Amino acid sequence: FKSYFYSKLCKEYSEVLKVMRTIDDRIVHALNTTVPTASFSGKVDATQTCKELYESLMEAHLSRDKAIKSCITETSAVVGQLREERAKDGDNLSVIKQLRKEQTKLKLMQSELNVEEVVNDRSLKVFNERCRIHYTSPKIK
Ligand SMILES: *[C@@H]1O[C@H](CO)[C@@H](O)[C@H](O)[C@H]1NC(C)=O
Ligand SMILES: *[C@@H]1O[C@H](CO)[C@@H](O)[C@H](O)[C@H]1NC(C)=O
Repeated sequence: FKSYFYSKLCKEYSEVLKVMRTIDDRIVHALNTTVPTASFSGKVDATQTCKELYESLMEAHLSRDKAIKSCITETSAVVGQLREERAKDGDNLSVIKQLRKEQTKLKLMQSELNVEEVVNDRSLKVFNERCRIHYTSPKIK
């Protein structure tokens, strides 16, 4: 069957996302180990540490969001091409099968955006617990 264009990122998006999400684990770990909880210990510059961790977190979230959205765009284009083929040749089973396969992939990618929300909320919750008293981030209410 004719192969469609996918970038390397989107061919391997689930492995790539898994790796990209480990950044959040590292940041949460860093928050837990370096930022004092209630009282300021004086051992670290908590404000600076919180600011840096916040920026890393935002950068990680943004780059994952971009990666997922660009793969959604690629997959949508492939689905569009297959729909056109199906419209021309509605009895072609290999076209129908391929279209279903690509539609399933597209749904999985879209659900990654929901996974992102959960992952990001969890990290921001820990961030907020640890950093609220040291650093006021632009986005945290
Ligand atoms: C960090 O602390 C939070 C609670 O404050 C906890 O939920 C989380 O599992 C801890 N993570 C690590 C990596 O220690
Ligand atoms: C079905 O479509 C594919 C891709 O366009 C084509 O390669 C194949 O020959 C078609 N099969 C039939 C039975 O028409």
